[in-house]
Amino acid sequence: MRIDIITVVPDILKSPFEASILQRAIKKGLVEIHLHNLRDYTTDNYKQVDDYQFGGGAGMVMMIEPIDKCITKLKSEREYQEVIYMTPDGERLHQKMANRLSLHENLIILCGHYKGVDQRVRDQFITKEISIGDYVLSGGELGAAVLCDSIIRLIPGVLGNETSALTDSFQDNLLAPPVFTRPAEYKGWEVPEILTSGNFPKIEAWREKQALERTKRLRPDLLEDE
Ligand code: ADE
Repeated sequence: MRIDIITVVPDILKSPFEASILQRAIKKGLVEIHLHNLRDYTTDNYKQVDDYQFGGGAGMVMMIEPIDKCITKLKSEREYQEVIYMTPDGERLHQKMANRLSLHENLIILCGHYKGVDQRVRDQFITKEISIGDYVLSGGELGAAVLCDSIIRLIPGVLGNETSALTDSFQDNLLAPPVFTRPAEYKGWEVPEILTSGNFPKIEAWREKQALERTKRLRPDLLEDE
Protein backbone atom coordinates (compact mmCIF):
# COMPACT_ATOMS: atom_id res chain seq x y z
CA MET A 1 0.00 0.00 0.00
CA ARG A 2 1.08 3.54 -0.73
CA ILE A 3 -0.24 6.59 1.15
CA ASP A 4 0.48 10.14 -0.06
CA ILE A 5 -0.17 12.78 2.59
CA ILE A 6 -0.55 16.41 1.52
CA THR A 7 0.13 18.92 4.30
CA VAL A 8 1.44 22.40 5.11
CA VAL A 9 3.30 21.03 8.19
CA PRO A 10 5.03 17.78 7.15
CA ASP A 11 7.18 17.87 10.31
CA ILE A 12 4.18 16.94 12.51
CA LEU A 13 3.86 13.71 10.55
CA LYS A 14 7.47 12.57 10.62
CA SER A 15 7.74 10.99 14.07
CA PRO A 16 4.64 8.73 13.98
CA PHE A 17 6.18 6.92 11.02
CA GLU A 18 9.67 6.76 12.50
CA ALA A 19 8.80 4.54 15.44
CA SER A 20 7.42 1.20 16.41
CA ILE A 21 5.02 -0.84 14.30
CA LEU A 22 4.58 1.75 11.57
CA GLN A 23 8.29 2.09 11.00
CA ARG A 24 8.63 -1.70 10.84
CA ALA A 25 5.87 -1.89 8.25
CA ILE A 26 7.70 0.70 6.13
CA LYS A 27 11.05 -1.09 6.52
CA LYS A 28 9.46 -4.41 5.55
CA GLY A 29 8.20 -2.73 2.37
CA LEU A 30 4.55 -3.36 3.28
CA VAL A 31 3.64 0.32 3.14
CA GLU A 32 5.09 3.50 1.65
CA ILE A 33 4.31 6.89 3.18
CA HIS A 34 5.06 9.98 1.08
CA LEU A 35 4.73 13.43 2.65
CA HIS A 36 4.09 16.34 0.29
CA ASN A 37 4.61 19.92 1.46
CA LEU A 38 1.91 22.05 -0.18
CA ARG A 39 4.30 25.01 -0.28
CA ASP A 40 6.35 23.10 -2.88
CA TYR A 41 3.36 23.41 -5.22
CA THR A 42 3.00 27.20 -4.98
CA THR A 43 4.12 29.48 -7.79
CA ASP A 44 4.56 32.84 -5.97
CA ASN A 45 7.62 34.08 -4.05
CA TYR A 46 5.80 33.96 -0.71
CA LYS A 47 4.81 30.29 -1.17
CA GLN A 48 1.28 31.28 -0.25
CA VAL A 49 -1.12 28.42 0.47
CA ASP A 50 -4.01 30.29 2.11
CA ASP A 51 -5.99 33.48 1.67
CA TYR A 52 -8.88 35.50 3.17
CA GLN A 53 -12.34 34.10 2.61
CA PHE A 54 -14.72 35.68 0.12
CA GLY A 55 -17.59 37.44 1.85
CA GLY A 56 -15.45 38.34 4.85
CA GLY A 57 -15.01 36.66 8.19
CA ALA A 58 -12.17 35.57 10.43
CA GLY A 59 -9.76 32.83 9.45
CA MET A 60 -7.84 31.85 6.36
CA VAL A 61 -8.88 29.34 3.73
CA MET A 62 -6.53 26.97 1.91
CA MET A 63 -6.34 27.89 -1.78
CA ILE A 64 -7.26 25.50 -4.57
CA GLU A 65 -4.28 25.96 -6.90
CA PRO A 66 -1.43 24.31 -4.92
CA ILE A 67 -3.77 21.46 -3.89
CA ASP A 68 -4.88 20.96 -7.50
CA LYS A 69 -1.26 20.91 -8.69
CA CYS A 70 -0.24 18.34 -6.07
CA ILE A 71 -3.23 16.00 -6.49
CA THR A 72 -3.13 16.22 -10.30
CA LYS A 73 0.58 15.36 -10.36
CA LEU A 74 0.05 12.34 -8.07
CA LYS A 75 -2.94 11.13 -10.08
CA SER A 76 -0.92 11.35 -13.31
CA GLU A 77 1.59 8.91 -11.82
CA ARG A 78 -0.76 6.17 -10.52
CA GLU A 79 -4.38 5.40 -9.83
CA TYR A 80 -5.79 6.24 -6.40
CA GLN A 81 -8.80 4.45 -4.91
CA GLU A 82 -9.65 7.32 -2.55
CA VAL A 83 -8.69 10.96 -2.12
CA ILE A 84 -9.42 11.59 1.55
CA TYR A 85 -9.88 14.95 3.27
CA MET A 86 -9.37 15.09 7.06
CA THR A 87 -12.01 17.41 8.51
CA PRO A 88 -14.14 17.61 11.69
CA ASP A 89 -17.31 17.60 9.54
CA GLY A 90 -16.41 14.32 7.80
CA GLU A 91 -17.72 10.83 8.51
CA ARG A 92 -16.53 9.67 11.92
CA LEU A 93 -13.70 7.08 11.68
CA HIS A 94 -14.66 3.59 12.81
CA GLN A 95 -13.11 0.11 12.62
CA LYS A 96 -15.05 -1.07 9.57
CA MET A 97 -13.90 2.01 7.64
CA ALA A 98 -10.27 1.22 8.57
CA ASN A 99 -10.81 -2.41 7.50
CA ARG A 100 -12.13 -1.33 4.09
CA LEU A 101 -9.42 1.28 3.50
CA SER A 102 -6.67 -1.25 4.37
CA LEU A 103 -7.62 -3.23 1.25
CA HIS A 104 -6.69 -0.39 -1.13
CA GLU A 105 -3.47 0.00 -3.08
CA ASN A 106 -3.03 3.80 -3.20
CA LEU A 107 -4.56 6.54 -1.05
CA ILE A 108 -4.18 10.31 -0.93
CA ILE A 109 -4.86 12.09 2.38
CA LEU A 110 -5.25 15.87 2.37
CA CYS A 111 -4.82 17.61 5.73
CA GLY A 112 -6.91 20.72 6.26
CA HIS A 113 -5.72 23.78 8.18
CA TYR A 114 -7.03 27.18 9.23
CA LYS A 115 -10.73 27.47 8.32
CA GLY A 116 -10.42 24.53 5.93
CA VAL A 117 -10.05 24.27 2.17
CA ASP A 118 -11.83 26.11 -0.62
CA GLN A 119 -15.09 24.18 -1.15
CA ARG A 120 -14.17 23.60 -4.80
CA VAL A 121 -11.33 21.31 -3.65
CA ARG A 122 -13.88 19.14 -1.84
CA ASP A 123 -16.28 19.21 -4.80
CA GLN A 124 -13.69 18.43 -7.47
CA PHE A 125 -11.05 16.19 -5.91
CA ILE A 126 -12.18 14.62 -2.65
CA THR A 127 -13.86 11.20 -2.66
CA LYS A 128 -14.09 10.68 1.12
CA GLU A 129 -14.17 13.04 4.12
CA ILE A 130 -13.10 11.65 7.49
CA SER A 131 -13.23 13.01 11.05
CA ILE A 132 -11.48 11.28 13.95
CA GLY A 133 -14.00 12.60 16.48
CA ASP A 134 -16.30 15.42 17.48
CA TYR A 135 -13.66 17.95 18.46
CA VAL A 136 -11.63 20.42 16.45
CA LEU A 137 -7.89 19.93 15.97
CA SER A 138 -5.63 22.72 14.74
CA GLY A 139 -5.03 20.74 11.56
CA GLY A 140 -5.76 17.43 9.90
CA GLU A 141 -2.24 16.03 10.43
CA LEU A 142 -2.84 14.28 13.75
CA GLY A 143 -6.08 12.90 12.35
CA ALA A 144 -4.17 11.61 9.32
CA ALA A 145 -1.64 9.91 11.63
CA VAL A 146 -4.48 8.23 13.55
CA LEU A 147 -6.14 7.13 10.30
CA CYS A 148 -2.86 5.75 8.89
CA ASP A 149 -2.12 3.83 12.08
CA SER A 150 -5.60 2.27 12.11
CA ILE A 151 -5.18 1.19 8.47
CA ILE A 152 -1.54 0.09 8.39
CA ARG A 153 -1.76 -2.30 11.35
CA LEU A 154 -4.40 -4.27 9.42
CA ILE A 155 -2.17 -4.93 6.41
CA PRO A 156 -1.14 -8.63 6.40
CA GLY A 157 2.39 -9.06 7.75
CA VAL A 158 2.48 -5.78 9.71
CA LEU A 159 1.57 -7.25 13.09
CA GLY A 160 3.73 -10.14 14.27
CA ASN A 161 0.79 -12.35 15.05
CA GLU A 162 -1.52 -12.45 12.01
CA THR A 163 -4.60 -13.09 14.08
CA SER A 164 -4.10 -10.35 16.61
CA ALA A 165 -5.79 -7.55 14.63
CA LEU A 166 -8.87 -9.75 14.30
CA THR A 167 -9.22 -9.99 18.07
CA ASP A 168 -8.99 -6.22 18.63
CA SER A 169 -11.79 -4.32 20.26
CA PHE A 170 -14.50 -3.24 17.75
CA GLN A 171 -13.97 -6.17 15.36
CA ASP A 172 -17.41 -7.92 15.69
CA ASN A 173 -18.74 -4.80 17.48
CA LEU A 174 -17.36 -6.08 20.80
CA LEU A 175 -14.78 -4.65 23.16
CA ALA A 176 -11.81 -6.95 23.78
CA PRO A 177 -11.82 -9.13 26.91
CA PRO A 178 -9.37 -8.39 29.77
CA VAL A 179 -5.83 -9.76 29.35
CA PHE A 180 -3.21 -10.83 31.91
CA THR A 181 0.45 -11.86 31.88
CA ARG A 182 2.99 -13.18 34.39
CA PRO A 183 3.16 -13.26 37.36
CA ALA A 184 -0.04 -15.23 38.04
CA GLU A 185 -0.14 -13.63 41.48
CA TYR A 186 1.16 -10.15 42.36
CA LYS A 187 0.78 -8.65 45.84
CA GLY A 188 -2.06 -11.09 46.40
CA TRP A 189 -3.89 -9.98 43.21
CA GLU A 190 -4.60 -13.09 41.21
CA VAL A 191 -5.18 -13.84 37.56
CA PRO A 192 -8.58 -15.54 36.87
CA GLU A 193 -7.99 -19.23 37.44
CA ILE A 194 -9.55 -20.27 34.14
CA LEU A 195 -6.73 -18.59 32.19
CA THR A 196 -4.07 -20.82 33.75
CA SER A 197 -6.19 -24.00 33.50
CA GLY A 198 -4.99 -25.01 30.02
CA ASN A 199 -8.62 -25.75 29.05
CA PHE A 200 -8.74 -23.78 25.80
CA PRO A 201 -12.40 -24.25 24.84
CA LYS A 202 -13.36 -23.03 28.33
CA ILE A 203 -10.92 -20.10 28.07
CA GLU A 204 -12.44 -19.11 24.72
CA ALA A 205 -15.95 -19.25 26.21
CA TRP A 206 -14.81 -17.16 29.20
CA ARG A 207 -13.29 -14.55 26.88
CA GLU A 208 -16.46 -14.30 24.81
CA LYS A 209 -18.55 -13.86 27.94
CA GLN A 210 -16.18 -11.19 29.30
CA ALA A 211 -16.18 -9.33 25.98
CA LEU A 212 -19.96 -9.28 25.90
CA GLU A 213 -20.25 -8.24 29.55
CA ARG A 214 -17.69 -5.44 29.08
CA THR A 215 -19.43 -4.18 25.96
CA LYS A 216 -22.85 -4.17 27.67
CA ARG A 217 -21.42 -2.25 30.61
CA LEU A 218 -19.11 0.24 28.86
CA ARG A 219 -20.43 0.62 25.29
CA PRO A 220 -24.01 -0.65 25.01
CA ASP A 221 -24.36 1.48 21.85
CA LEU A 222 -22.08 -0.98 19.99
CA LEU A 223 -24.61 -3.78 20.48
CA GLU A 224 -27.43 -1.66 19.04
CA ASP A 225 -25.45 -0.81 15.92
CA GLU A 226 -26.28 -3.84 13.79
N1 ADE B 1 -9.11 18.51 11.45
C1 ADE B 1 -9.51 19.28 12.48
N2 ADE B 1 -10.25 18.58 13.35
C2 ADE B 1 -10.33 17.30 12.86
C3 ADE B 1 -10.97 16.12 13.29
N3 ADE B 1 -11.69 16.07 14.42
N4 ADE B 1 -10.83 15.02 12.53
C4 ADE B 1 -10.12 15.06 11.38
N5 ADE B 1 -9.50 16.14 10.92
C5 ADE B 1 -9.61 17.27 11.64
